[in-house]
Amino acid sequence: MKLWGGRFNKATDKKVDDFNSSISFDARLYKQDILGSIAHATMLGKAGIITEKESELIVKTLKEILVDVENDKVTFMVDAEDIHMNIETILIERIGDVGKKLHTGRSRNDQVALDIRMYVKDEISAIKEMLISLMNTILSMAKENLDTIMPGYTHLQKAQPITFAHYCMAYFQMFKRDFERLTDCYKRTDVMPLGSGALAGTTFPLDRELVKDLLNFSAITENSLDGVSDRDFAIEFLSNLSLISVHLSRMSEEMILFNSHEFSYVEMDDAFSTGSSIMPQKKNPDIAELVRGKSGRVFGDLMALLTVMKGIPLAYNKDMQEDKEAIFDAVDTIKMCLPVFTDMLATLSLKKDNMRKGAAGGFTNATDYADYLVKKGVPFREAHGISGKTVFYCISKDKALEDLTLQEFKEFSPLIEQDVYDAISLETCVNERKIYGGPAKEAVEKAISNGETFLKSI
Ligand code: ARG
Repeated sequence: MKLWGGRFNKATDKKVDDFNSSISFDARLYKQDILGSIAHATMLGKAGIITEKESELIVKTLKEILVDVENDKVTFMVDAEDIHMNIETILIERIGDVGKKLHTGRSRNDQVALDIRMYVKDEISAIKEMLISLMNTILSMAKENLDTIMPGYTHLQKAQPITFAHYCMAYFQMFKRDFERLTDCYKRTDVMPLGSGALAGTTFPLDRELVKDLLNFSAITENSLDGVSDRDFAIEFLSNLSLISVHLSRMSEEMILFNSHEFSYVEMDDAFSTGSSIMPQKKNPDIAELVRGKSGRVFGDLMALLTVMKGIPLAYNKDMQEDKEAIFDAVDTIKMCLPVFTDMLATLSLKKDNMRKGAAGGFTNATDYADYLVKKGVPFREAHGISGKTVFYCISKDKALEDLTLQEFKEFSPLIEQDVYDAISLETCVNERKIYGGPAKEAVEKAISNGETFLKSI
């Protein structure tokens, strides 16, 4: 018989059991569920709602069940519906009537809210650790490449020269924000809902503060209706994971491009590439492609949860059972992507000569040439025009700006002197951009040291 079977005269249809049951996916909340029940039972004993002896027996047995689950000695039943009723059923099987007291003053509605918050808290911490590894890897790459000049792009057209270090540190900023967002999301997840009951709290004098402390939460929920039906923290979490996916996907896209024969700026390690079943010459960047592709799953998970939640009247509705697979899938996806992506970066080899050649072509110094004229007294808009005309001339001659003779330069402006060559050299173009946040070596060194300070502070 079902734990809730009292008012029913018929067994549930088999199809309904299969449809309604969530044990196939919420079994992975067993630990949170048992730890939550241990805290609840401890509190029931301390508050005198059940006897200390009953409380101790329940706690002891729950601990044994936890060990048994972890050693694969427990079979969960579909007709016990979900992890909460499976654990409770096993408890009652083992200790009989005393086990039936565990659910006093509690509902599965606040129980599942608790479990999922505990789960999200754990996963936030785990994912933050993975982000730290990724940020460390990016910092090392930046440190080694302060002088590695490459073209920066806008519209995927060569724009201005930067360094690979500066490029890396752009991603550092993104992952740092992702990290901070998770820290922020943690605060709103770290609120303990037990005591909300089914929707309207309970008449039992539960000690919510004690349960909060036993389970390491920072606060308790303020409203019982909201306590059972709030999944904002999970939506926020999936939105944070979606942004991580955006950043991973953007960097993957660039690694795929840079790894292509056309760019040849980087080469992925053999251990992080795959071959073709037909084309013997191929070495494909599948890892980066999969990371890029898996972003779609994470966005889908976020969209699924938003859609599940948008029309639900207060308080709990069974629709909310649909939250779990979305959350689990996003967590699994991100936890697979982050470490493999980090190692893929760590093993990347750079083709620095090609990067430099890339920066030397495509007139990436045309802005600096215009700025040179500005420093000689030409208004910027006019200097822009002169630089454009010079570029046009160079294209017709198949030359770079720095290939022009001083004579040729003077055709465009008599103000141009020998010092133009230094002003438009790649080194000058990069290292004169000393502005805070810019690509000059000294500015990137500052960014790296800020990054190190950040990593030490967390
Ligand atoms: N398995 C359910 C879920 O995941 C637990 C809560 C069920 N509550 C209920 N009143 N049916 O949401």
